[in-house]
Amino acid sequence: MTSSILGQIEPNDFLQKYWQKKPLIIRQAFNDFQLPIEADELAGLAMDEEVESRIIIEKGEKPWQLKRGPFSEETFASLPPSHWTLLVQAVDHWVPEVHSILEAFDFLPSWRLDDIMISVAADGGSVGPHYDQYDVFLIQAEGKRQWQIGPVYDAESPKLEDTELHILSEFEVLEEHLMEPGDILYLPPGVGHNGVAAGDNCMTISVGFRAPSHREILMQYTDFISDQLPDSLRYSDSDQKLPMNKGEIDDEALNRLQVILREHIDDRSKLAQWFGHQMTQLKHDQEADCEFSDWDSLLEALSGTTLVINEGSRLAFRKDNEAFFLFADGCHYPCSDAATQSLAEKLCKDSLLPSEGWQDLNSPEVRNLILSLINKGSLYIQEI
Ligand code: SIN
Ligand code: CO
Repeated sequence: MTSSILGQIEPNDFLQKYWQKKPLIIRQAFNDFQLPIEADELAGLAMDEEVESRIIIEKGEKPWQLKRGPFSEETFASLPPSHWTLLVQAVDHWVPEVHSILEAFDFLPSWRLDDIMISVAADGGSVGPHYDQYDVFLIQAEGKRQWQIGPVYDAESPKLEDTELHILSEFEVLEEHLMEPGDILYLPPGVGHNGVAAGDNCMTISVGFRAPSHREILMQYTDFISDQLPDSLRYSDSDQKLPMNKGEIDDEALNRLQVILREHIDDRSKLAQWFGHQMTQLKHDQEADCEFSDWDSLLEALSGTTLVINEGSRLAFRKDNEAFFLFADGCHYPCSDAATQSLAEKLCKDSLLPSEGWQDLNSPEVRNLILSLINKGSLYIQEI
């Protein structure tokens, strides 16, 4: 994979002109595109009960039939000859070659990335015209897909009834493009689109981004801070004046409430802590391969190995004048010395750590951080 998928476009230009603004087609985005997974492997994943998968059949038992995995050999054998799509969620969590595609998106904050969904379709296969709530990069991996792009739609736009899928019933086609392996279509949130497989073996990789809704931000942040507040902190009005009418909620009462709300909203260190936890929350349970009670036993196991960030793990860091925190999989790790801070930054940038020099790590904080990340399953040991 290349370091970026933007081709001739400068990352800054992409951010200014296209990101969250308008669709973009990047032809032959990768210098040397290698298929990261075969269609058969994808079907194999869809048979695993830990993996989320769906099959959409346009003319099934009813129009736009949706089946949910895990699937069996019989399900695949009973598919019609055309007009079906198999979609597998979060393939980057299970397949390292797919996970490494994310390295090509380093022009965006990694905590904005959601996961990689991969679809395989037979000729004519499509999930119907729809819009997504999130930004998505649709990488054509194998075969061809004809994309129709429409205007921006929203929750009010009419949808088809009698199907669990959110399919637009009035879809206006503004542009059409045939995508070939290595081509990418970027779509901002809300843009209507309909991709139809042009021939069999049409594989499309969707790199999706996440963005919490305002509702989630308010609900989850207020939950987070309220859990830390004692009941004894109360609305107080020692400055109360004699009311003109005892039933009136006056401006002063609202002012007192706003002071309380602002005090919590303005606490940027709490906000950072909540956000770091939230954006690195694991989507699937994760267990450590092995646990170590102390640095010496870990050091022994590290000889001739390298440390790799778990494909399902999410990392982010936050530094300001007062503190430095690494967030990993919903946990936070204070980093006070320079060596720990640089390790934390490195972990957020690269997916693996060098394979030598472990004996020279003298900082107890660095050692504890590595130990904790391994014991929590955020880092794993790999033979070289
Ligand atoms: C697909 O891969 O078939 C559909 C992806 C999408 O339209 O979001
Ligand atoms: Co879509």
